[in-house]
Amino acid sequence: MLAKHSFILLVMITYLYFVTSDIVWFRPEQIHISYGEKSGDIVVTWSTFNETKDSIVEYGIGGLILQSNGTSVLFTDGGSAKHSQYIHKVTLSNLTPDRKYMYHCGSNLGWSNLFSFRSPPLQENWQPHIAIYGDMGNENAQSLTRLQEETQREMYDAILHVGDFAYDMNSQNAEVGDEFMRQIESIAAYVPYMTCPGNHEEKYNFSNYRYRFNMPNGNNFLSYSFNMGPLHIISISTEVYYFLNYGIKPLIFQYQWLEDDLARANLPENREKQPWIIVIGHRPMYCSNNDSDDCTKNETLTRAGLPFFQFFGLEKLFYNYGVDLEIWAHEHSYERLWPIYNHKIYNGSYNAPYVNPMAPVHFTTGSAGCKEGRDSFIKPRPEWSAFISRDYGFTRLKAYNKSHLHFEQVSDDKGGAVIDSFWIIKDSHDFYPNSVIDWAKMDSMRLKNFL
Ligand SMILES: *[C@@H]1O[C@H](CO)[C@@H](O)[C@H](O)[C@H]1NC(C)=O
Ligand SMILES: *[C@@H]1O[C@H](CO)[C@@H](O)[C@H](O)[C@H]1NC(C)=O
Ligand SMILES: *[C@@H]1O[C@H](CO)[C@@H](O)[C@H](O)[C@H]1NC(C)=O
Ligand SMILES: *[C@@H]1O[C@H](CO)[C@@H](O)[C@H](O)[C@H]1NC(C)=O
Ligand SMILES: *[C@@H]1O[C@H](CO)[C@@H](O)[C@H](O)[C@H]1NC(C)=O
Ligand SMILES: *[C@@H]1O[C@H](CO)[C@@H](O)[C@H](O)[C@H]1NC(C)=O
Ligand SMILES: *[C@@H]1O[C@H](CO)[C@@H](O)[C@H](O)[C@H]1NC(C)=O
Ligand SMILES: [Fe+2]
Repeated sequence: MLAKHSFILLVMITYLYFVTSDIVWFRPEQIHISYGEKSGDIVVTWSTFNETKDSIVEYGIGGLILQSNGTSVLFTDGGSAKHSQYIHKVTLSNLTPDRKYMYHCGSNLGWSNLFSFRSPPLQENWQPHIAIYGDMGNENAQSLTRLQEETQREMYDAILHVGDFAYDMNSQNAEVGDEFMRQIESIAAYVPYMTCPGNHEEKYNFSNYRYRFNMPNGNNFLSYSFNMGPLHIISISTEVYYFLNYGIKPLIFQYQWLEDDLARANLPENREKQPWIIVIGHRPMYCSNNDSDDCTKNETLTRAGLPFFQFFGLEKLFYNYGVDLEIWAHEHSYERLWPIYNHKIYNGSYNAPYVNPMAPVHFTTGSAGCKEGRDSFIKPRPEWSAFISRDYGFTRLKAYNKSHLHFEQVSDDKGGAVIDSFWIIKDSHDFYPNSVIDWAKMDSMRLKNFL
């Protein structure tokens, strides 16, 4: 009697196991969005652990009346378990500007929860508000709750995560990466989550980073650029200067791509529309932290170029092509600099350092929280260091127009208080004094644009 009941119970449990696990395996998770290759497009990305024939987004203004289909790729982590998943990508095109769309994603085998996003406004009417930080992990993700609250209240147009995710995405056979992507769904499913790689992404040739984030990098390398209203934002990999075990080709390719992108951004018709050129990259060129990173010493590889030859240094390239702002992370702290070039301070006019600054402005914002904790600073501080904080937090950028950008540093330790704020104001975006411009490159860009 007992044995018969046990048998029936076993059959039921086995049945439930297979039925419920099927539902789980086909169900989309880790949903996040990003800007597409074409201005105005939104890309939806998600994972399923089993293959689904279709990758579909159902969406619309006020109802799921539209449908777009996409593709999936099999991603297998490099760890011993060869943990694998299907990563789906669907591009939504021809969106009506500046409207709230609802969407869900998946297939007839399983749909995600319902999410929403606001479509990008027309570039010329856009005053983007962006949250920016690096170094946010799965454990101790201090800023995440506040970011979720503010993102879901529609405060931001986009989020920039300036490298170092999850700590690390490949850890525990990439289970940490899955858990991190589930965590950030609470923000990344609602606004484009734009990224660059950090040193914590290096494992297995950056494969977790490469597969999990769909950035508009049709160039097949990790760098890319995109526009938001008056901003031209360029995302680079500083890691090509540090992990030369993957060869020098990624470094050279990125440098050449950057020269082209900067020349194109400086064509008068482009710079007129997007006068602000902003670079984001993981490792800073300058920092005053008390640790062994090369930004605490005099020369960083990204600033000066490779040792002995001083080839491919980025500081000179960015100066020559009139980059306005350089945003970094990696140090688990916040540090703002006076306008700087080649170790020298070049304040702006009217005794106001950021009014018509005569060199790029830099800041480092790597304190969103991770299991490695905070970094501290050396004493005395270098004279180029304008403001430092060890508080956990993130940065807000509001781009008012072609002449005014405003920044706020939010402290999670101080309940969301703004501990630093500043304007960058430019009457014009002319080249810096003594810029060395490759006019041949500019001419060839002009020709390419014309053809
Ligand atoms: C789901 O994937 C697992 C692992 O690859 C496989 O063993 C299983 O048969 C798949 N299930 C279905 C229903 O396709
Ligand atoms: C998307 O794929 C589904 C299932 O294959 C199909 O029924 C539908 O017509 C496709 N939609 C579009 C817009 O191509
Ligand atoms: C790393 O990945 C890139 C992109 O897939 C590939 O082009 C490159 O050959 C890989 N490098 C190595 C050393 O495996
Ligand atoms: C750092 O480098 C700059 C420019 O190369 C040089 O002028 C300066 O003397 C160096 N400072 C130190 C402390 O080595
Ligand atoms: C730049 O401006 C700051 C703030 O006004 C000031 O402390 C600093 O001395 C100035 N540096 C130079 C080189 O003018
Ligand atoms: C860094 O901090 C340690 C411990 O507080 C201290 O011993 C050391 O002198 C500091 N180094 C610098 C360069 O300030
Ligand atoms: C740009 O925005 C700032 C800050 O809101 C404002 O003071 C300024 O007048 C604006 N300039 C133009 C040209 O609209
Ligand atoms: Fe880092």
